[in-house]
Order: sequence, then structure tokens, then C-alpha cells
Amino acid sequence: MGKPNNKNKKNNTEKQEKLTGDELKEKLKESEGAGTDAEKTDDSAESMSAITSDMANEATDDDLVSGENSPMVLAENLVKIYKTLELEVLALQGLDLRVERGELTAIIGNSGSGKSTFLNMLGGLDEPSAGKLFVDGKNLFKLSQSEKVIYKRNTVGFVWQNNGRNLLPFMNAMENIMVPMHLTSEKHKKERALELLDLVGMSHRKYSRMNQLSGGEQQRIAIAIALANKPKLLLADEPTGSVDRKTADYIFDLFRRLNKEYGQTIIIVTHDVELSKKVARVVAIRDGKISSERILKEHYANLGTGEINWMEEDTQDEFTIVDRAGRIQIPKKMLDSLELKDNKIKVTYEEPVIKLENPSKNTVSKEK
Ligand SMILES: Nc1ncnc2c1ncn2[C@@H]1O[C@H](COP(=O)(O)OP(=O)(O)OP(=O)(O)O)[C@@H](O)[C@H]1O
Ligand SMILES: [Mg+2]
Repeated sequence: MGKPNNKNKKNNTEKQEKLTGDELKEKLKESEGAGTDAEKTDDSAESMSAITSDMANEATDDDLVSGENSPMVLAENLVKIYKTLELEVLALQGLDLRVERGELTAIIGNSGSGKSTFLNMLGGLDEPSAGKLFVDGKNLFKLSQSEKVIYKRNTVGFVWQNNGRNLLPFMNAMENIMVPMHLTSEKHKKERALELLDLVGMSHRKYSRMNQLSGGEQQRIAIAIALANKPKLLLADEPTGSVDRKTADYIFDLFRRLNKEYGQTIIIVTHDVELSKKVARVVAIRDGKISSERILKEHYANLGTGEINWMEEDTQDEFTIVDRAGRIQIPKKMLDSLELKDNKIKVTYEEPVIKLENPSKNTVSKEK
């Protein structure tokens, strides 16, 4: 973790300490409506709007994904183009994903592959250029501004790598956890805050201010804050990116416990391959699309964390994802080993196997 910039921290603290309770509530409301920088990017090219409406027409009917039996998340053909003055970046290129209620899913992928872009969309912080996204049966792109504010407050909880986005430094742990509840009708704020402190193992530090806590402890408070309004979906973007191995294990185990004991649906973005081996489902994003998926073998699903040598044992089965148009992304290692001269590949079917070959290599071996 980079060293905190104490100067900035101090300035922020001074500024924020001058806010009254009402001003704070007002600020929270503003920030809920404000969204991310990404939202402010000019991504509304006319051509893309046309694609958006075309694709919306042919995609899933809203009625099919609403109600209690609907998946928690259904993403269909999500496309995101960031358009700046100099260039266009295709951050998501037709991403499809379905996450059931009660699942714990990790998302992995190289830097720049679109993980945060997707998570921000799930969090209601960003809009796609095309495609559909349903969370808890709601079509996110049909929500009005006020419905979106309620969605962000009640349906999703967000934990960021940089917990400065979650925490208010001039308040203690308990006050921080109670902040999101001030905008709801929760009657037992204190009791709920104490319950959450207990859940994340921080009851003994309830009166500590954020600058008196370590990075890992702050992250545990950030998780409690994200859970304060009992979100149906908990989102975490690199929640262990700034802590040491032991703390990362603790935080990941906390997510696993929340999922197992409380049925919390969770989506975690992580770079940490070791941690990703511990979850039931890991989806990999490559170039803005889900390329492959690993599922925890049944035998491991019922074992406790301590009973498995995660690094040594092969805990998951790996699958490549076929999209609705029949496209797959060949894993990079396999593709490299084919040593293609150009972009042509020979595909043959010998029941039940589909074979992919380098056509020029094949010819050479036949000639021999
Ligand atoms: N607001 C923006 N304006 C322009 N381009 C952006 C914006 N946000 C993201 N991008 C670009 O979109 C692509 C995907 O970014 P994203 O942040 O989703 O990647 P990521 O997978 O989360 O990467 P990392 O692991 O480094 O966090 C990148 O090429 C990035 O530069
Ligand atoms: Mg990211």
C-alpha cells in the first residue's frame, strides 16, 4: 500500500470537521447522485445510442428476469466505450454474465481488462454504451435518477481497494457504520452497528477513529459500512489489494463466511490468484468479455479453509466460455503454442471433439 499522504489527509479532515450533521447528510445525498468520473466522460456518441436501442430490442424481456426467482445479476452483451477527445477505449466488448442469488463470485483479469468498469455498472455508478444489465430483477438502465439513488443506497454495498472512499476519518468506527443508515428508516442504528462490528471482528475498536486503525482494520470497517443497509448484492473491487497476506486471508475468509452463513451474494474483483482459488466460482475477463470460468470441485466446496493446501491442490475445474454467437476466446497459452503465422485456424469436428489446428503446421506434417 502506498504511504498515506498525511498533508492531504489533514486538510480533508479539517474541511470535513466543519460540516454540521445536516450538511453531512446533504453531502452524502449529493455524492450518491454524483456518480464517478467515468459518468462524466463524453461517451454518448450518436452511433452508440443507435446500437443501444437496437440491442435493447432484441435482448431479454424485462419480465423474464424480475421476481424472486430471477438471477441476482444478468448482464447481456454489455458494451462500454470511453470516448475522450483523443481516443476511444473499448472497455467492455459484449460481456455476458449470470450470477445466481447466494453465489460468491470472483472476477479476475489483467489490468485494463474491464473489471472495475463492470463493477461500477453493477454499483449504479456508470452506464453502458450498449447492452442490458439486470440486478435483483431491476433493469438498471431504465431506473429514473431517484430510483437509482435508492438502488445505490439499498440494493448494493460497495467496498473499494482504497478505503478512503468508504470511510470518514473524523468519525469513529461505530459512527462510520451508522452513516449510511441515516438516510434510511432503520430504527435500531446503534444495535445494527454493534452487530456489524462483531461480524467483522472489530467490536473492541468501536470508538477508534480511522487514523488509529491499520489498513486491514479499516478495510473491515469498510465492509461493515457496505453491509449497513443489508444490501442484496455486495461488491468489492480489489478489497485486499492494499493489505498483507495474512490480512488478505482474513478478509477473504470474512467474505466466505458472509456468503455461507448469511447467504450474502458477493462479487469480488481480485488480482490475487491464490485467493481466487478459494471461491466457488471465478470468472476471468479478457479484453472486456468473460473468457473462461473456474468452478470449485464439489469435494472442496464442503471443506474448511484450513483443511486445504490451496496452492498445491488443483481445486477448480476450468471452462472456456462460448458466447451466444458461438465465439470463444482461446486461452493465450494454447494460442501461443499453435504458433499461428496469421489469424487463420483450422477447425475440425471428430465427434465428440472439436480440434483447432495451425493449418500451415498441419500441411508440413502431412508432407513429411
Ligand atoms: N473514465 C475513463 N475514461 C477513459 N478510459 C477509461 C476510463 N475508465 C477506464 N478506462 C479504460 O477502460 C479500460 C478498462 O478499465 P478498468 O478500470 O475497467 O480496468 P480494470 O480491469 O479494472 O484494471 P485494473 O486491474 O488495473 O484495475 C482501460 O483501458 C482503461 O484505461
Ligand atoms: Mg480496476
